[in-house]
Amino acid sequence: MIDTNNRLISPIERQGDEAWDLSLRPKTLSEYIGQNKIKQNLEITVAAAQKRGEPIEHVLLYGAPGLGKTTLAHVIANEIGANIRVTSGPAIEKSGDLAAILTNLEAGDILFIDEIHRLPKIVEEILYPAMEDYALDIIMGKGPSARTLRLDLPKFTIIGATTMASLLSAPLRDRFGITHHLNFYETADIEKILRRSARILGIEIDGEAALAIAQRSRRTPRIANRLLKRVRDYCEVKGDGKISVKDSLEAFHMLEVDELGLDLIDRCILETIVNKFQGGPVGLNTLAASTGEEMDTIENVYEPYLMQLGFLDRSPRGRLVTTLGYKHLGLTGPLV
Ligand code: ADE
Repeated sequence: MIDTNNRLISPIERQGDEAWDLSLRPKTLSEYIGQNKIKQNLEITVAAAQKRGEPIEHVLLYGAPGLGKTTLAHVIANEIGANIRVTSGPAIEKSGDLAAILTNLEAGDILFIDEIHRLPKIVEEILYPAMEDYALDIIMGKGPSARTLRLDLPKFTIIGATTMASLLSAPLRDRFGITHHLNFYETADIEKILRRSARILGIEIDGEAALAIAQRSRRTPRIANRLLKRVRDYCEVKGDGKISVKDSLEAFHMLEVDELGLDLIDRCILETIVNKFQGGPVGLNTLAASTGEEMDTIENVYEPYLMQLGFLDRSPRGRLVTTLGYKHLGLTGPLV
């Protein structure tokens, strides 16, 4: 079975992405490409807070992996000239872990909590008064003699990031004054990101090659930049180092990534439904058994993009390949 997180077109950060992402990460809102509505709103938020000399309200960023939530948090911190502390929901296991972080913050600091939906409930409850009143409630003792000691915290800002806003409890969600949903990028914006990345890395890329990579990026900057890296390697070895469309297409052929950014497993899922189940509907568990993948992985990793392309449908009776899906496989439709 293929390691799902290690797929070339996985939106989830893979080993080796980090340093690469870091060098390409925009530092200011004007360098940040795409998400124009969010940028416009953030420009006002930042300017207003600076005019008043106050920290910005707590910000919740949600959207699919790889769309730039962490990047945007760093951009916000940079724009307001604040220090940013970075942590994540799963890294904070106990109330004491969060208390230690909060008591070390200075006025105006930003605390970035990635995967905030994975904060343990008990930790989340510490966050409520911290976000609302800049206070840390410490419970001392147990039973009837228990006392709450309230410590004042400096005025700070939490930026929370999540791929699943629906998993956030309502009280936590309500404590964010500002919420932004990051959408998948327009292909033209991904092309701009690729040209910017190539410039920073000192790689020559022609316009058609940037388009070819953008079309396979699943509208996700992290995937686009990762594909750029692999195509650059290919062009350095097989071509003259310059990224041309011809070499790019050869690289994608070798990497088995098709013109819409589907890989072998995506196509295997579609082909299994078509060939073994007459196009569906087929239940998720049957599909998992037939493809050798986990149900959870099919549902959360493969299906979202196939559904976004309109190739796959979920119905109460199971999964179906659509007419568009058939077309992509070079077929006309189900045999009747
Ligand atoms: N690199 C990754 N995401 C980016 C973005 N949105 N703008 C500019 N460069 C990026």
